[in-house]
Amino acid sequence: MPDATILGIESSCDETGAAVVRSGERILSNVVASQIATHQPYGGVVPELASREHLKAIVPVVRQALTEAGETYQSIDAIAVTQGPGLAGALLVGISFAKALAFALEKPLIAVNHLEGHIHAVLLEQRQMQQRQGGDGELYFPVLALVVSGGHTHLYLAQLHENLWTYRNIGHTRDDAAGEAFDKVAKLLGLGYPGGPIIDRLAPHGDPQAVKFQASQIKHADRRDHKQGDAARVADEEGGPHFDFSYSGIKTAVLRYVETQKLKPSIEARRQALAGIEKPKLEDVRALCDRQTLNLVASFQRSMVNDLVAKTLAAGREYDVRTLFVSGGVAANQELRTTFELEAGRQGLPVFFPSRALSTDNAAMIAAAAFPKFLRGEFVAMDFSAEAGMALR
Ligand code: KG4
Ligand code: ZN
Repeated sequence: MPDATILGIESSCDETGAAVVRSGERILSNVVASQIATHQPYGGVVPELASREHLKAIVPVVRQALTEAGETYQSIDAIAVTQGPGLAGALLVGISFAKALAFALEKPLIAVNHLEGHIHAVLLEQRQMQQRQGGDGELYFPVLALVVSGGHTHLYLAQLHENLWTYRNIGHTRDDAAGEAFDKVAKLLGLGYPGGPIIDRLAPHGDPQAVKFQASQIKHADRRDHKQGDAARVADEEGGPHFDFSYSGIKTAVLRYVETQKLKPSIEARRQALAGIEKPKLEDVRALCDRQTLNLVASFQRSMVNDLVAKTLAAGREYDVRTLFVSGGVAANQELRTTFELEAGRQGLPVFFPSRALSTDNAAMIAAAAFPKFLRGEFVAMDFSAEAGMALR
């Protein structure tokens, strides 16, 4: 297989990333400048601030990625950049910079879907993981990929033919994405931002059985609904069953619990105490949580994890997949990883995740997803633009 060294650039949300990856597999460098500190006071990503921070970071981040990789602007073979989905203004920073580089250096330019990037993050390590588990390093199709992040909870069936990856969407969230639910619940409980990593680390200190939350209430087309011809069943474009998620209900249930249990004064006290600590550590947050709050956090996470795992595995059975990928920011969650490993293992389905660092937004995944496109000569012209609502096919 031909070799290629690709510079990847990612700027779709609140991380400015640049990475150099050889042949879609070997990470030579992977630099991420996080904007968490900028958005923290607002409890969420502020689009205008994100664009401004990307503008400040893009040149040093790209330079650092090249230096760490021992490469130069001249020595790379192609430039890959995230086209969408994401914040339009944020995407444009990466795209404009990538275009300028490609034009000046006369290098091919490759546009990558951010969601495809998350899926390909798994491939950066899947072969080694599979071999460690005693496998042959081969990837068996169809692959079912759950992309679970701050903006998406999507299920894709992936196929590969002659370096062409194709994706069929067989499920998505009808309202909030899973990561969004983690972030909103953490904000509601005065735990800080972003919520996912905080809840992940607090949950082991609480009792996950303490509060009973209903899994999402929507009628999704699992196997049983499908066979019974449930009227609420949604067929996808190709007539197959769809596996939808919904996480706004559980957020409201947490709010209701907070109100009925009169937790608001203690939440406000915690919020104020944390605001007075410059860089709060987990121990600081934990010390400010009573048992009831820790139990609530653990119960919320258990319910999220069980729902994500149950629906994904139901889809895997329905479509008779041979491999499962779980990627995106929420894939960094420890309980999600162990539950998937356990339950998929019971089903005899191999499951692969990116390492935690590659689960959240980064540019190595963009450079990795660009490699098959490089082999196929799938380059974009200088007039391509950002696509904030870009779909993956
Ligand atoms: O993929 P990502 O970095 O950005 C998007 O494309 O959205 O995902 C960010 C999301 C946030 O909602 C964050 O709270 C969540 O992923 N997240 C986690 C964990 N780490 C990040 N959620 C649960 N557990 C984690 N350890
Ligand atoms: Zn992402």
